[in-house]
Amino acid sequence: MATRKKVLLGCTGSVATIKLPLLCEKLWEHNVDVRVVVTERAKHFLKEAELPPGTQILSDTVEWAAWQDRGDPVLHIDLVKWADVFLIAPLDANTLGKLASGICDNILTCVARAWDPMKPLLFCPAMNTKMWEHPITSTQVALLKSWGYKEISCITKTLMCGDTGIGAMAEVDTIVQATLRSLNSWDSYSSLHLRH
Ligand SMILES: Cc1cc2nc3c(=O)[nH]c(=O)nc-3n(C[C@H](O)[C@H](O)[C@H](O)COP(=O)(O)O)c2cc1C
Repeated sequence: MATRKKVLLGCTGSVATIKLPLLCEKLWEHNVDVRVVVTERAKHFLKEAELPPGTQILSDTVEWAAWQDRGDPVLHIDLVKWADVFLIAPLDANTLGKLASGICDNILTCVARAWDPMKPLLFCPAMNTKMWEHPITSTQVALLKSWGYKEISCITKTLMCGDTGIGAMAEVDTIVQATLRSLNSWDSYSSLHLRH
């Protein structure tokens, strides 16, 4: 029997984190195993009760409680080993800036900093139009792409703040399809080059 593919889903403090239950549900429908890492701000938008039963939500609280002594797991490193794909949806302006400058001050940014460059990393920017149009955004997005990370572009629509413009997270179906494509390419690559 084929093993289930594994997606580590990262959520940041964008209001688009409210789409997490739908995103998890659609990935589960495709027989994908999902674990979620969240920033502290993302927790504010998270409705855990709406997630598919058994979805693991991993945060700084969980990571720091898990390590007490030598031999205990270092969760962000274990997650890098566990996952086939790291999908950051939504990626807010703050964490985009952190990733671009190598800052790793929480579980999500530590996973990103320790991420295996051979495996796919996908990111879905989500922010207000004014933030998106700040000149630093395109520089930071281009930097992430230069490392091989794949951008799932944001879209134009009426944002949660009431403004209409570019900056909304891509539609959930677009994100799921892009993730499945990356999982398939990773599967083909790793079975050709890495498995014996
Ligand atoms: C109601 C609310 C909605 C927000 N939505 C967004 C957003 O969509 N995109 C964004 O870049 N920042 C947004 N922010 C700001 C971030 O939450 C803030 O920059 C935070 O420090 C991000 O922390 P994190 O990157 O560690 O998750 C929002 C803030 C509030 C209060």
